[in-house]
Amino acid sequence: MTSKKRYERPVVTKHYSGFMNKIGTSSFSKPMKEIDGVQVTELVEKFGSPLFIISERRIRQNQRNAYRIFKTRYPKVQFAWSYKTNYLNAVCSVFHQENSWAEVVSEFEYDKARALGIKGDNIIFNGPDKNKSALIKAIKEKSKIHIDHFDELYDIIEICDSENLRAKVAIRVNMDVGVYPKWDRFGFNYENGEAWQAIKRIVSNKNLELIGLHTHIGTYMMSTEAYRIAASKLASLARSIKEQFEIIIEYIDLGGGFASHNTLLGQYLPAEETIPSIDQFADAISSGLFELNFRQDELPFLILETGRALVDDTGYLVSTVLANKRLSDGKKALIIDAGVNILFTGFWYKHKITPAQDCGLHTEEAAIFGPLCMNIDVVRESITLPLLKKGDRVVIEYVGAYDMTQWMQFITLRPNVVMIMEDGSVELIRQAETLEYITQRELIPEKLKSKS
Ligand SMILES: Cc1ncc(COP(=O)(O)O)c(C=O)c1O
Repeated sequence: MTSKKRYERPVVTKHYSGFMNKIGTSSFSKPMKEIDGVQVTELVEKFGSPLFIISERRIRQNQRNAYRIFKTRYPKVQFAWSYKTNYLNAVCSVFHQENSWAEVVSEFEYDKARALGIKGDNIIFNGPDKNKSALIKAIKEKSKIHIDHFDELYDIIEICDSENLRAKVAIRVNMDVGVYPKWDRFGFNYENGEAWQAIKRIVSNKNLELIGLHTHIGTYMMSTEAYRIAASKLASLARSIKEQFEIIIEYIDLGGGFASHNTLLGQYLPAEETIPSIDQFADAISSGLFELNFRQDELPFLILETGRALVDDTGYLVSTVLANKRLSDGKKALIIDAGVNILFTGFWYKHKITPAQDCGLHTEEAAIFGPLCMNIDVVRESITLPLLKKGDRVVIEYVGAYDMTQWMQFITLRPNVVMIMEDGSVELIRQAETLEYITQRELIPEKLKSKS
């Protein structure tokens, strides 16, 4: 018996191949058959689909480039890798090999950095939740504790008194940088004098050493001027600290937040055309730091906790088409095997999605859904793509930041992650999860255990 071929009901669509629109030429670019010289098909055959891929070469390039850009504008620069952006051990290790410290926001992240061999001294401990045991550990290990609120400051004072310890601390400062709504839920406010009050409290305590000032003004920031303002406000605080207490702080930490090359969902033009370059952010920050007016030998280090702008474009997610279908209004829909549980940033970004094999020139607007049996599983409301059939693959770009930390097992498990090494070899850096792994920590009360 001969089996029937797969059939899709024909539809009539206008053909816009190569047609110019007001942004440029046709929205479809060449297929992406390889990543860093490695064939996508080979990767999927070996490691399965969906599959996260990270480029070691790209991470190193990005980090070196950013360091060079800042270092040519300000003499003392230190990067601290923002763990929450991507804390896979292999990824952190590449950043650490590139001389980045660790910037952590929880005890779990702190322990992760220590387990990777980072000395307490090279860990910046941020965040509003630092429990007592974490604080004791961090103080003893001389990490740089960035105090978020007065209750944390009082905890540290108490710990130092009772344990006879001395802590190295900085404060996180929030401020008006002309971008609204203001980010004022973390740290002490600059304009209303709260930050200065915290500073006075710290310098009057013999067990506390004020070593730095920190701010993180927001995320996916498009304004370089906001960074100039932030740098100049922290610089003027540093100057007041010097003038009033004769303390020269070790560093000014401008946090992260530079926009990456991903385009936001509501953004009309592609990010490539709208976001400032790292050079522009660096220009703004270094000009804000002029406010310091310190002697050369007194200049504090400039610390940067850049996350997404360094790692977003190092990550790829390869996914396979599970099915084609038509919605009730005739619109085309694709179902792929990567859902929003592993592509969390799909809620914010219009990722670049490219077929991984040759396809025809005919394109059609389609919605892309993930495999989850949930209405929210929309990878993309609308995208123009060539026609793809079941089994074809797509590459979703710029997924190096926040996806591999905010992902969750939900209906489907988290897939393999590989790193393409600088020498072209491919290493598995996180194994796909299994039922056994997921249920390992579950317990069934005795009376619920089935006897059948
Ligand atoms: C304190 C702090 N530093 C650095 C970062 C990294 O930010 P981004 O990935 O936007 O550069 C964050 C992220 O929210 C943060 O909260």
